[in-house]
Amino acid sequence: MNLLVAGGAGYVGSAVARRLSTSGHRVVVVDDLSAGHAEAVDGIRGIRLLRADLAAPGLDRALAAAGPVEAVLHFAGKIAVGESFADPEGYRRANVTGSEALLAWARAAGVRRFVFSSSAGVYGTPEKVPVPESAPLRPVSPYGETKVAVEERLAGAAKEWGLGAVALRYFNASGATDGGRHGEDHRPETHLIPRLLAAAASGSAVPIYGTDGPTPDGTCVRDYVHIEDLVEAHVRALDAVRPGEVRAFNVGAGSGASVREVIAAAERVTGRTVRTKDEPPRRGDPPSLVADISLAARELAWKPTRGLEEILASAWSWHRGRPGGYSGRRG
Ligand SMILES: NC(=O)c1ccc[n+]([C@@H]2O[C@H](COP(=O)([O-])OP(=O)(O)OC[C@H]3O[C@@H](n4cnc5c(N)ncnc54)[C@H](O)[C@@H]3O)[C@@H](O)[C@H]2O)c1
Repeated sequence: MNLLVAGGAGYVGSAVARRLSTSGHRVVVVDDLSAGHAEAVDGIRGIRLLRADLAAPGLDRALAAAGPVEAVLHFAGKIAVGESFADPEGYRRANVTGSEALLAWARAAGVRRFVFSSSAGVYGTPEKVPVPESAPLRPVSPYGETKVAVEERLAGAAKEWGLGAVALRYFNASGATDGGRHGEDHRPETHLIPRLLAAAASGSAVPIYGTDGPTPDGTCVRDYVHIEDLVEAHVRALDAVRPGEVRAFNVGAGSGASVREVIAAAERVTGRTVRTKDEPPRRGDPPSLVADISLAARELAWKPTRGLEEILASAWSWHRGRPGGYSGRRG
């Protein structure tokens, strides 16, 4: 198939783009490189990179070079919950306006299949954990609101012009791909695992945001899913698209680990002591967010195959192999 991968120079998008190209698909990545790394896809056979901002005027012109496209996988957007409170307009522009422009282009280009990177952030602070897809969508951050808005736009497109879409609601994507080609290198990095591994390597302290919440040890409980399992979910999602429907699936491990448990596991994996620093809870951070993954198991025949220690071991090996991140210039 001819595929357009929006945001495919980023962490998850580049890993998915590579898997799809090695399975024989022709992949065009469109990315503005605001947060991604050209190096993440450079030199991979079957992948071409176009540099463009989805939310800027002239997207049609930029994507004319993509050639015919049968399906779109859409990863592009801003991803930091905390930053979204400071810049809600920037988040709406990048995430909602950008998605609307991509959908308008897809409609005109005759694309009928779409896979979107949604987020556990759509649930806000769920009443029930593990949270099923049927839970109310009540985001507690501007970031989460943008994900709900895009899922709504997909539902509109399904109804109006028969688009078939799958929204994958990721929990915490983590780890590095097998062979270490793709790893997590966000700038600034707000995700726990890369931050604590950097702290393990440098001896600096990693902040723990919130230590007396309503969880067994007082720290936030999250669900960490290995990047290779997440990649596999995309391959299955692409096959599971049904014309005129939007299907949403949680993609997580189906079990949670507290910040202190992740730190203890990281100390075991790295053989180093991780220094910590207690900080107040962050806005928009629910105490506990764990996926109910039974729907994906049933409908996509997907289930995670790797646990937290494998996530940490792959991320540690990636970090040691590239101490400066992509281009050796980690921020
Ligand atoms: N990483 C996670 O744990 C996680 C969890 C839930 C949801 N998600 C979602 O998955 C997607 C990918 O996340 P990631 O961790 O790979 O993030 P990332 O920042 O590494 O990748 C996002 C990519 O989108 C590009 N981009 C941003 N705005 C753009 C625009 N206007 N036009 C073109 N390109 C643009 C960036 O340059 C970057 O390459 C995001 O939509 C994110 O919200 C990620």
